Amino acid sequence: MTYKAALSFADGKTLFCTVQKNERLLDAALRSGITLPLDCREGVCATCQGRCESGLYTQDYVDDEALSAADLARHKVLSCQTRLLSDAAFYFDYDSTLCSKAEPGRHRARVTALERPSARTAILHVKLDGEAILDYLPGQYARLHIPGTEQSRAYSFANASGTGTLQFLVRLLSDGVMSDYLRERCEVGDLIEFEAPLGTFYLRHVERPLVMVAGGTGLSAFLGMLDELAEQGGCGHPVRLYHGVRDVADLCELARIEDYARRITDFTFVPVISQPGAAWAGRRGYIADHLDQAAVGERPFDLYVCGPPPMVESIKAWREAQAAQDARLYFEKFIESHA
Ligand SMILES: Cc1cc2nc3c(=O)[nH]c(=O)nc-3n(C[C@H](O)[C@H](O)[C@H](O)COP(=O)(O)OP(=O)(O)OC[C@H]3O[C@@H](n4cnc5c(N)ncnc54)[C@H](O)[C@@H]3O)c2cc1C
Ligand code: FES
Repeated sequence: MTYKAALSFADGKTLFCTVQKNERLLDAALRSGITLPLDCREGVCATCQGRCESGLYTQDYVDDEALSAADLARHKVLSCQTRLLSDAAFYFDYDSTLCSKAEPGRHRARVTALERPSARTAILHVKLDGEAILDYLPGQYARLHIPGTEQSRAYSFANASGTGTLQFLVRLLSDGVMSDYLRERCEVGDLIEFEAPLGTFYLRHVERPLVMVAGGTGLSAFLGMLDELAEQGGCGHPVRLYHGVRDVADLCELARIEDYARRITDFTFVPVISQPGAAWAGRRGYIADHLDQAAVGERPFDLYVCGPPPMVESIKAWREAQAAQDARLYFEKFIESHA
């Protein structure tokens, strides 16, 4: 038995594929040449997510950090875990052109520098080895293989594409495979293999004010987007960047952000510190406490959120509470992988 699936995309295109009974939607799409973005294939990373608009389906494993109970109630699905029980229609919140691009390639790069702006943060600089440039959309991510291990971890590009150099902003955990490598063994010249580009979190064509919300090293994805906007001198709309960190030492790339303020018309940076010392005169607490309508300014706006899952969920809840559904929401959760 086969079912028909209609896959529509943000650019208005609809593509069709047949899905065998018991076949996963992602596999059926790939079989038909529709290369839906994917990463883990295990229901964890949420890269393959979409929304069912009609039809019956079941899902195998869905990690609760990938899709919340509220997401499931809204018929959000992970296409790598979805099997059809009838003909069905799905919506994917990115342009269909992302599906016609070649699947993520394997690449190599050499470490050129490792900065340690704070005890909890590292900035890894690498240069491509064997190719001149890597094409990706700012906001997308790479899966880096950790030298000397069999493991890999996902990191958002922290600079715009178009050069042979890449940056990654990494939160150092007290106990983590990548964290330990960066803290203890990483040296200039190390070879790092990676897959890229991955993900569907990227800056869409800007048609309204932009509100960017970064939790911790979630800033990385926005650095890539802001590099691109700075190149263009802005986007014709206000751009607000909120950055939430635990303490002042975790604020990083401040000189770069000041430079954005000079180069991007109507750009504002709002740092929010959850556990500041007495000397901190800026905003305290969590970003959701400071995203009032006055702070956001004109509506409607596009809301981009990137960082740890609880922070992303708090901003989604803020949007619900404000009835700010006219704010188009795009987000990337930094879900930890134990692969
Ligand atoms: C799409 C995406 C983009 C991301 N981008 C970034 C980014 O730009 N910057 C960034 O800093 N992070 C990013 N992350 C998170 C990143 O991929 C890693 O999860 C994070 O850096 C931790 O890696 P680690 O190897 O240091 O720690 P891990 O080894 O993964 O350990 C993480 C935590 O889990 C615990 N742990 C380890 N193994 C197990 C286990 N088997 N069972 C239970 N607990 C365990 C460890 O003690 C530690 O506290 C992103 C994640 C995703 C999904
Ligand atoms: S590819 Fe489906 S959740 Fe990761």
